[in-house]
Amino acid sequence: MKEIQLPEFKMAYSDQGEGRPLVLVHGYPLNRKLWRRQVDGLQDAARVLAPDLRGHGDSGATPGVYTMDLLADDLKAFLDGVGITQPVTLCGLSMGGYVTFAFYRRYPERVENLILTATRAAADTPEVKANRSQAMQRARLEGIEAIIDGMLPRLVTAQTAARHPELVDELRAIMRHTSLEAVLGDLEGMRERADSTSTLEQIRVPTLVIHGAQDVIVPLAEAQAMQAAIPGAQLVVIENAGHLPNLEQTEAFNRAIQDFIE
Ligand code: MLT
Repeated sequence: MKEIQLPEFKMAYSDQGEGRPLVLVHGYPLNRKLWRRQVDGLQDAARVLAPDLRGHGDSGATPGVYTMDLLADDLKAFLDGVGITQPVTLCGLSMGGYVTFAFYRRYPERVENLILTATRAAADTPEVKANRSQAMQRARLEGIEAIIDGMLPRLVTAQTAARHPELVDELRAIMRHTSLEAVLGDLEGMRERADSTSTLEQIRVPTLVIHGAQDVIVPLAEAQAMQAAIPGAQLVVIENAGHLPNLEQTEAFNRAIQDFIE
């Protein structure tokens, strides 16, 4: 693990390999360890960087709303801090995808390629916003274990969970390493986030959309709609995978990224 002091907190990150930078942005309520198999598997193809967003994993937490813009600004400060000024391939999973859209809107000159995985462009519906508020209440009253119990069964397919119970244990351990500040900050930040649908047609960099065929958190139709709206975007659908295709079908996922960046 490496660390860098940003203005408001110390950010932990992984940084392996050489060449053009590939920056992996995890989802909620996860951390850079979600990308362990990509940091290991893609380091011959790129310099693979995976930060822990503020309050997640080994990065310092701050109270308050973690807006997608704030998290995107943290990424920009991180890249500046580690001296990466050239445009990067930015890959965001789920909430990491929401951050990726915010980053692209704010710093398009810093992006060479986009990879959008298990994510959506649309903002929260009123129903999802209400669920976020309930989850915040639950996290405050019962702690993050209640959040983890609610999310775990939906992250990977039932088949993955039955065949690879060790993956479920790994995910639980990853999620337990999220601060309460980050759970609350993320939920509020996601609830308030802008709709990115109008950003799609303005994307001017090569874009790859990767999605698990059985994702129940973000249905495949969202990925198909993103591909249709982003000029020239490719879509790779990963079979036998839910919301975390990078973890459930590592080989297919890494191959899709490798083919794309090469
Ligand atoms: C994630 O995986 O980052 C979140 O589940 C996304 C969301 O809740 O919208």
